[in-house]
Amino acid sequence: MVSLLLLALAGFSSQASAACTRDLLKEVTASYIAALGSGEGPTAISGLANDSLIYQENDAELDITEGVLSAAIKIDFNRSIYDTTECASYTEIVATTGHPYVIGTRLALNADNKIYKIESNVCETGDWLFDAKGTLDYNKKESWEPIPEAKRDSREVIKAAGEAYINAWGDDTIKPPFTADCSRLEGGLYISGGKCLLNFPPPFNVTNRRFTIDEELGAIDIFHNFPFLDQSIPRDPGTQTNNLMRVEGGKIKYIHENTVCDAKNCGR
Ligand SMILES: *[C@@H]1O[C@H](CO)[C@@H](O)[C@H](O)[C@H]1NC(C)=O
Ligand SMILES: *[C@@H]1O[C@H](CO)[C@@H](O)[C@H](O)[C@H]1NC(C)=O
Ligand SMILES: *[C@@H]1O[C@H](CO)[C@@H](O)[C@H](O)[C@H]1NC(C)=O
Repeated sequence: MVSLLLLALAGFSSQASAACTRDLLKEVTASYIAALGSGEGPTAISGLANDSLIYQENDAELDITEGVLSAAIKIDFNRSIYDTTECASYTEIVATTGHPYVIGTRLALNADNKIYKIESNVCETGDWLFDAKGTLDYNKKESWEPIPEAKRDSREVIKAAGEAYINAWGDDTIKPPFTADCSRLEGGLYISGGKCLLNFPPPFNVTNRRFTIDEELGAIDIFHNFPFLDQSIPRDPGTQTNNLMRVEGGKIKYIHENTVCDAKNCGR
């Protein structure tokens, strides 16, 4: 009897929560970007879940008032993608002046449409191939316009392309789909002309994957760990990395990799 009642209540509460829309994600994300730019702190973010917020920078939990939101950042560039299925967004910002930063942030919303988790990959001077000016110049030149509706790939196709890219690192039998002009912006370094494939000596196990997928922009972002790059961090779990990709017609066209190093330039 009691369990039936609980089931009924659970069913009711999930129906009661509003659908996650692109507009909602845009609004919440814009308030996060504005808060980052103003230095006004977390209270400037709309729709933060009070009690249960998980805040992480570079895979470590941190008090939200002590991280990158604690001082104004002069943002030169921002780009966001929106995942209405997972109710999450991913944003990259580039700051070239003052304290240069390239920050990637995933905002995840709960069933009440409140942000319950903020994870940021915070790259600064000394991180892998870090060069905020290079990131800004190359990033700005790319076209991430919405894909016409008739040409959009499904979520599954976008995810399969993105995962094939990172699965191929340790398995050269996997052939990820790339456009002929595929390019990778790795830190501030641009590798263009279709040279996107990477293979490393196995075993190469990429774990802790967190996805944000946007069919309208053909975009997938994957937060994950990268084995072996940082010589001061054990292979497992590896270094905090993020890869944002644009997929067109099932093929990867752009890759943005930002990797946080413990030792300067990961000790290399
Ligand atoms: C957040 O906390 C304030 C003060 O404790 C409370 O009034 C408000 O209802 C809370 N909001 C949410 C969304 O939990
Ligand atoms: C973010 O980028 C948009 C253009 O894509 C721009 O209109 C907006 O002002 C930017 N926000 C900040 C805080 O720089
Ligand atoms: C990769 O790591 C995960 C998590 O530690 C583990 O469950 C999985 O078995 C590993 N896979 C391989 C191929 O080593």
